Amino acid sequence: MPHRVGVIGGDGIGPEVVAEGLKVIAATGVNLDVVHYDLGGARYLRDGTVLDDATVEQWRQLDALYMGAVGTPEVAPGVIERGLLLKMRFDLDLYINFRPFTAPGHDFVVIRENTEGSYAGEGGTLRRGTSHEIATQGSVNTRYGVERAVRYAFELASSRRKHLTLVHKTNVLTFAGDLWERTFNEVAEDYSDVATAYNHVDAACIYFVEDPARYDVVVTDNLFGDILTDLGGAVSGGIGLAPTANLHPGRVSMFEPVHGSAPDIVGTGLANPVAAVLSGAMMLDHLGESDAAERIRRACEQPETLTGTTSEIGDAIAARLR
Ligand code: IPM
Ligand code: MN
Repeated sequence: MPHRVGVIGGDGIGPEVVAEGLKVIAATGVNLDVVHYDLGGARYLRDGTVLDDATVEQWRQLDALYMGAVGTPEVAPGVIERGLLLKMRFDLDLYINFRPFTAPGHDFVVIRENTEGSYAGEGGTLRRGTSHEIATQGSVNTRYGVERAVRYAFELASSRRKHLTLVHKTNVLTFAGDLWERTFNEVAEDYSDVATAYNHVDAACIYFVEDPARYDVVVTDNLFGDILTDLGGAVSGGIGLAPTANLHPGRVSMFEPVHGSAPDIVGTGLANPVAAVLSGAMMLDHLGESDAAERIRRACEQPETLTGTTSEIGDAIAARLR
């Protein structure tokens, strides 16, 4: 039975890198039954569609979603991000944002809570555009949401090098930090095999650059995780290599590169498809095709040897699989 996968190429370089990812998956021999969805900034500019509920309902019947990148400078910030990408994450309850990194000689993973925090959309404005304007943007942290992310991270750490670091800002964000810290310490009692550590997020930024080897698994909130994973990409070979899984274990989940739509290089062949290819490998893990996933990861080792245009790199990775 082929796996049913919805593909959203999206905007900018998104369709270019997704095409390479699908090419590489096809070369593994894994059979996908692909449905393409024309969504993103370009579609919105054409007919006003961002993402309707009926489409999300169709997606619940799929095995996975594979996305390139969405967003275009012609559309106001937030419209596509909130209306498409965050709607996918929230409506499908993709509560784990799983971002693995390979720094020279060392690999580590950031588990970013993916449905709450500052991304939840709490807040509003009053007297907008006047000199008495107010804007608030709250951070929503539930025991349920924090605990399931923390538990997932402990489970993962337990299957790896048995070390988990909580990253937060407990010295300033005393309400949210307290909830995270207590939850982390309570769940830790169920994982006596996992050693734990805590870093404030600002200090973690230094360690990501100067001493990433201290990390195996990191767990953090949505916004800290967003920022920290761009840094993780930057210190481990560049954002062109960093993949993401947006997971609800056991249900339809979504796979995308960390990078954005990079409209400035669309059509030039400069886009590095490796992040999208590795996101495809994470999708294969989710689909139970771990052997094929592992072969793809091996083919992407030594990414510095993968040179040329977007499609030449895709061809080279596919050729290494045969
Ligand atoms: C990411 C992206 C998104 C995020 C944007 C595009 C909304 O930066 O996946 O990291 O902030 O989560
Ligand atoms: Mn980001």
